[in-house]
Amino acid sequence: MDSIVVFSPASVANVTCGFDVLGFCLDHVGDKIIVSKSNTPGVHIASVSGFRVPVNPKQNVASVAVEALLRDYPTSTGFEIEIEKGIKPGSGLGSSAASACGAVFAVNLLLGSPFSRRDLIKYALEGESLASGERHADNLAPVILGGFTLVRSIDEIDIIELPSPEDLIVSVVHPKIELKTSYARAILKKEVLLRDAVRQWANVGALVSALYTQDYRLLSRSLQDFVIEPTRSMLIPEFDALKHEAISSGALGFGISGSGPAVFALSQGQKTAQSVLQSMSKALDPLDLDFDCYISSINQQGVRVI
Ligand code: HSE
Repeated sequence: MDSIVVFSPASVANVTCGFDVLGFCLDHVGDKIIVSKSNTPGVHIASVSGFRVPVNPKQNVASVAVEALLRDYPTSTGFEIEIEKGIKPGSGLGSSAASACGAVFAVNLLLGSPFSRRDLIKYALEGESLASGERHADNLAPVILGGFTLVRSIDEIDIIELPSPEDLIVSVVHPKIELKTSYARAILKKEVLLRDAVRQWANVGALVSALYTQDYRLLSRSLQDFVIEPTRSMLIPEFDALKHEAISSGALGFGISGSGPAVFALSQGQKTAQSVLQSMSKALDPLDLDFDCYISSINQQGVRVI
């Protein structure tokens, strides 16, 4: 095998109460990554399309992640990466995670799979850190492993795969403004009130329990964010109206997707998710602002060969 094509999905990180720890990925939105072996040693970005990302391999999350992998698996083979971006950078939908994960997943296969899927998270993390200026694996973990994931630690990488009910459907609205993760992280308060921390970790525990027991009412009560949303919501146009529309149309919960500006709502069943999406888009209609809408179930597979 000299060349491989993979689909690497978009993802929703944080999932309202789990800043930097919870995430899941979407079904059909994502990047297409083509990796080919080459006789020229090293890692090169052969082309980029869809949205603009750096072609300099030192500044591109995909090549930086692959270079990290190759430090642990030296080879004289070179690699050329073609990136067809389906996710806009700065969307809050895990654009950099998709490219980094897609590239290491493809290179690992071309090398005969010396690493497990879990091992790849460590390498993809090097790319992700370049994009956000800090290390967090809450987008990477679901893209590599599929499903709903919880990152217990990234010092010693420790990821827990969580179950998710089949009829849990996500509605996503993505206002087309760019919000850099590094900026959305820089504005966060560095200290959290103990009172808020208690409410937040109670919700994370409850959400995990709700996923195991398929308890939608508990899931709904848990989708609240006392720590991050109060600061970041002001970066998102019509945040309060979007939230109000989602909840009053029957969503179980609502939140900022990753660092935004995309927002998401979780619903039980396609029908509710569809009407939640319509209501949310109504909140943005009066603005002179382009936005995309997506509906998806929780992608259980993650990055895959196509
Ligand atoms: N947990 C990260 C953040 C996700 O919210 O900054 C970035 O997509």
